[in-house]
Amino acid sequence: MLTIKTPLKYIDTIRKILMEKEIIARNYKILTEDNYGYIPIKDEINTETLKNIIEKLKNNLNSQKKGNTNNNTNTNTNTNTNTNTNTNTNTNTNTNTNTIINMGNFNDIYTDISLVEKDLEEVKKHPQSISEELKGKLTEQEIEDLKTSFDIIGDIVILEIPENLQDQKYIIGEATLNFTKRKAIYMKKSAIEGVMRTRQLEHITGEENPETIHKEHGARLKLDVSNVYFSPRLATERKRIAEQVKDGEIILDMFAGIGPFPILIAKDHDVNIYAVDINKIAIKYMKENIKLNKLKGKITPILGDINQIANEQFIKENIKFDRIIMNLPGTAKDFLNLAISLINNNGIIHYYEFSDGFDSGIERIKRIAKNYDKDVEVLATRKVKSSSPGQWHVVIDAKISY
Ligand SMILES: C[S@@+](CC[C@H](N)C(=O)[O-])C[C@H]1O[C@@H](n2cnc3c(N)ncnc32)[C@H](O)[C@@H]1O
Repeated sequence: MLTIKTPLKYIDTIRKILMEKEIIARNYKILTEDNYGYIPIKDEINTETLKNIIEKLKNNLNSQKKGNTNNNTNTNTNTNTNTNTNTNTNTNTNTNTNTIINMGNFNDIYTDISLVEKDLEEVKKHPQSISEELKGKLTEQEIEDLKTSFDIIGDIVILEIPENLQDQKYIIGEATLNFTKRKAIYMKKSAIEGVMRTRQLEHITGEENPETIHKEHGARLKLDVSNVYFSPRLATERKRIAEQVKDGEIILDMFAGIGPFPILIAKDHDVNIYAVDINKIAIKYMKENIKLNKLKGKITPILGDINQIANEQFIKENIKFDRIIMNLPGTAKDFLNLAISLINNNGIIHYYEFSDGFDSGIERIKRIAKNYDKDVEVLATRKVKSSSPGQWHVVIDAKISY
């Protein structure tokens, strides 16, 4: 490609001038070789224009040189001698360089600027999507079939690859690794299932280690993606809840997992949180997360079934809560009786369910509260995230008073 060859010493000045004239081909890298730089020039710039530009650059630098000569004759004499040798050596030994117009006088470094053909390396543009990264590796139809939505948890990417693209999973995995610059790619092998709400994953490429540290709103959350539930898509919801909390509250997270709600809350508030989960691996990570973060509040991790823990501890010791978090959207409704019996007067329940709206959830809370002779004020409702077509993971914030 066409380049302007210039002594390295002046490349910054010349590059700036050429940039202002908008003639640099920015999709190629400037090459430096043997005291010279080669600046790529856009195809569409005609040779006459380039000749004029080079002539002006040469005059400009020559007039600077004259100024320098008047000030310091000795220095210039030395410079000319050295340059003469360098320039000749470079021109003679550089066989790839095909000089088209040499505007320079080889006795003078300041005017040694020329228009030459040179092979330059293309600037690799980072693709804007996995689909773009996959162009040429999969067919257009295959790229269209691929859901490029993915979850990033710490250093790990979790991909969903449709059935008809299973044969291409390694190509897709590599493209995802390149695009996301994370350490490992795993593929969803099942839906979220079972009491512990985990899913089967298959390692596709990168480091085979399901443990990672996810950063969320200044908190560090360590987890094993294949053995505990965690969704980065709940980050906004966790922040929303944490922002409502006031110092001094006693809080129960009935289904706490690795502890993202408790950690986010206790990071900024002097509170007392009981965090229960039935998954012993989740409780192990919760304990690590308590150590990993600087917390103002206290979190007590408790392993077990919330029904049993409530009977053996909270009810027995008459512990009541100012706030109860119930993020088990599939079956939280089965624990509403318990939550309403454990809440303090004017306490708040954050109740989650899968639904197409809020009405059925609100009705449910009101019906159960009535059994306990308690009143319900709905403070807020929110669609947290989409769960399936027409269905949402929703939250209802309900204040319970009696
Ligand atoms: C949807 S996850 C939510 C975890 C966490 N709150 C979060 O946002 O990442 C639900 C959690 O409830 C736990 N779980 C399910 N049934 C339970 C029960 N009866 N008692 C205590 N924990 C339970 C599961 O192990 C799982 O970690």
